[in-house]
Amino acid sequence: MSKSLQAIRGMNDILPEQTPVWRYFEGTVSRLLDNYGYKQIRMPIVEFTELFKRSIGEVTDIVEKEMYTFDDRNGDSLTLRPEGTAACVRAVLEHGITGGGQVQKLWYIGPMFRHERPQKGRYRQFHQIGLEVFNLDGPDIDAELIIMTWRLWGELGIRDAVKLELNSLGTSESRGRYREALVEYLSAHHDKLDEDSQRRLKTNPLRVLDTKNADTQAVLVNAPKMADYLDDESRAHFEGLKARLDAVGIPYVLNPKLVRGLDYYSKTVFEWVTDKLGAQGTVCAGGRYDGLVEQMGGKPTPGVGFAMGIERLVLMLETLEQIPQELSRQVDVYLCAFGEAAELAGLALAERVRDQLPNLRLQVNAGAGSFKSQFKKADKSGALYALILGDDEMARQVVGFKPLRGQGEQQNIAWDALAAHLATCVVQG
Ligand code: HAM
Repeated sequence: MSKSLQAIRGMNDILPEQTPVWRYFEGTVSRLLDNYGYKQIRMPIVEFTELFKRSIGEVTDIVEKEMYTFDDRNGDSLTLRPEGTAACVRAVLEHGITGGGQVQKLWYIGPMFRHERPQKGRYRQFHQIGLEVFNLDGPDIDAELIIMTWRLWGELGIRDAVKLELNSLGTSESRGRYREALVEYLSAHHDKLDEDSQRRLKTNPLRVLDTKNADTQAVLVNAPKMADYLDDESRAHFEGLKARLDAVGIPYVLNPKLVRGLDYYSKTVFEWVTDKLGAQGTVCAGGRYDGLVEQMGGKPTPGVGFAMGIERLVLMLETLEQIPQELSRQVDVYLCAFGEAAELAGLALAERVRDQLPNLRLQVNAGAGSFKSQFKKADKSGALYALILGDDEMARQVVGFKPLRGQGEQQNIAWDALAAHLATCVVQG
């Protein structure tokens, strides 16, 4: 196939054999969020470029080099969203739903776009489930977000494979004071810093803490610590969060170098990381952004949220073999009909059964075929039972009921009794 007719590098098709795991994951998360009282919001995939520059920060990797930005036919600069927080803040402001201190607990799901170097767990179109809470400023809600994710890891069977890293960036005032101290210290060691860190020192000094360069890391050992610059309010908030995590028994590691790659954070930041996925180990990340709404033109409105990468969590489920067995079967019952009269009767019978058992996964053979070929298809479908309608069965108004996975003998069931019989032998999801 010519290259121009292939999918774009880093943008993946999710094939039919993969979608059951995706739907299982998405279903588990959305049920959990419903149960905790969160409401779904859906935003467009494209926004004005300015939105992301203003919120994520001009001097971040995302805005500097990873956005899919283009001019539309009106000459407006638009960008495929690289994340969901900015658009969610824009939406709540535009619709006035956080005005007057109204609490909003929102979640969203969908594709995000970043022009990163693709590798396992890192793609150019990837999918997030994200969550944002507005107008609650206490550590109790930060704790709830983390507790919810902890419950999710438990439900998915991956709790032992993830670790929570936690830090506080403080208020913008305390971060400002810390930034000054850090710049002073790093400037004195300028020559020992790698090139990227030298650049960041001028543009976004906190990101130097994030460096992977061993020499710069060595310089950082004696650098001023963020924790020493936290003001009383930030300190109390952080202590409040830790106390709640302790109360629920959620283990965490304090990581003073955790700064995150987006500029809007203040106070709490956290990441759930794993060593099961190689280099791309962060499966869920977020934090508090109390200044963002105001920065985007709204009244001061505290906010906190996180987003998880669906590809990475699906990979985790696969790697840890935590995919529920029942996902491998998509069909419960397969109906085979031989001859035109049987086909017509079969269609009507299938619809009656579906009326009575709305959750039954019943597949009716299409494309006719011999006895042998229909049975082959029934078997390949993964169904537990085949239903057989031929001349004999038609004459007696019964259907042949044949277990396909070795659970007993074939028997005849009267048409009227079929739904009741299926209800006893198929566990319906
Ligand atoms: P983020 O850390 O940029 O935060 O992304 C959140 C998660 O999305 C990551 O932890 C990772 O699981 C996944 N992810 C990010 N980039 C990629 C990629 N290229 N390929 C695959 N997965 C990826 C945010 O986006 C913030 N908006 C989170 C947030 C919400 N903070 C507050 N509210």
